[in-house]
Amino acid sequence: MGRNLVYNICDHGYSVAGFDKNSSQVETLELGKGNYDIWGTHSMEEFTGALKKPRMILLLVPAGPVVDSVINKLKPWISKDDLVMDCGNSHYTDTNLRIKKMGKENIYFMGVGISGGESGARNGPSIMPGGSKKAYDRVAPLLMAISAKTKGEPCVAYLGPGSAGHYVKMVHNGIEYAFMQLIAEAYHLLKQGAGMSNDQLHDIFLKWNDGALHSYLVSITADIFKQKDPLTGNHLIDMILDSAHQKGTGAWTTEDAMALQVPVPVIDVAVSMRNISILKKERMAAQKVLPGADIKLIIGKQELVNVLENALYFSIITVFAQGMALLRSASDAYQYDLKLKDIAAIWREGCIIRASLLDDIMAALTAEPDLSNLMLSGIFKDKLGVLQENARQIVRTGINTGIPLPALMASLSYYDSYRSGWLPDNLLQAQRDYFGAHNYERTDREGTFHTEWNQTQH
Ligand code: 6PG
Repeated sequence: MGRNLVYNICDHGYSVAGFDKNSSQVETLELGKGNYDIWGTHSMEEFTGALKKPRMILLLVPAGPVVDSVINKLKPWISKDDLVMDCGNSHYTDTNLRIKKMGKENIYFMGVGISGGESGARNGPSIMPGGSKKAYDRVAPLLMAISAKTKGEPCVAYLGPGSAGHYVKMVHNGIEYAFMQLIAEAYHLLKQGAGMSNDQLHDIFLKWNDGALHSYLVSITADIFKQKDPLTGNHLIDMILDSAHQKGTGAWTTEDAMALQVPVPVIDVAVSMRNISILKKERMAAQKVLPGADIKLIIGKQELVNVLENALYFSIITVFAQGMALLRSASDAYQYDLKLKDIAAIWREGCIIRASLLDDIMAALTAEPDLSNLMLSGIFKDKLGVLQENARQIVRTGINTGIPLPALMASLSYYDSYRSGWLPDNLLQAQRDYFGAHNYERTDREGTFHTEWNQTQH
């Protein structure tokens, strides 16, 4: 990814020095440089010596202690006003600490989320920078040049101070997890419920990608069903173990949402489902002893495909609504001053969650920037009202067939809970007060109250 980003930068007329502790990476960089002005270096001293002052340095290393170790190795060789950008998926709290630490030496440190994988890095990623505005202004022309473009606009914008960029990238990844889980559930229903072949699945996803679901993740899913396995000649998808791994950004989104008390149930479920998926041995054993429903569809296959397309669209809208609601709360809690419409704008191209839907989301956030939840926007509320029937039909199908559709179910429950003027939480409050004297509020007067409940032993 680092190498691809270097070539992308050079495409825009910049000269770059590259360093990797693994010298074979530096050799590969040099081998592929063609006419580019690239200097492959073999030590921090040589690397930092090659850069014009004040230096601009992009770090592309795995999140966690490696970032600190690289910073520590870099520090003796850099000086006042240099700018270091961490382009990995670092946890936002680590980024805050690093900004502080580097700030003491008058070195700018920015958390810059970059999405789009290897091809995005080469051809134009979506870039989510946060940190000092002064530092951003210095690097903005470069970031704008290398970013993806949508309708001529660069998919990069200054998001806010401190760790704003890494926070937004974390939520991007949470949305990515939920989007992927929803697609996986659609696959489960079509494969096991409707008995669709990989070729049929390819055609369905290809067609979906021409409609409201048009997105990067739906399009790569169509490709995946076509891929053959060179080792066996089978479809590769059928040779891949059904245990999904993770590097942590989805779980971080869930954890932070819990801390801020913002509901993001589809993201929560997407993380939990990866955790269930790795219990492969247990699942294989349980399959033999725990009975379920008969997998028998009571809906025609073509109808299923059509209804499922709408149910997925419904759910994906609710996922973006959850992600945006989290960003809104985080912006207040961490003083990021995020502009949600800018975030929707830069997610429209280059990143993993890019989707046509983001044009509508951007329009909704532009028209009503203070809306508490995207689902209430003029653009979405009537759409959701129609699509919810399809979501219900798919959830019923999951229940009837015993095929787990937790993300689809969670999106419908989120929608139903959010539109419920009354929820049964008066009972929770009564129980809390009963066993723990935790107090409750009343519907008819201000204040907090406690009751000596008439306790009977049952
Ligand atoms: C991106 C991706 C990327 C992420 C991978 C893997 O925006 O390019 O979000 O940053 O690292 O998707 O994530 P998991 O290993 O957690 O699935």
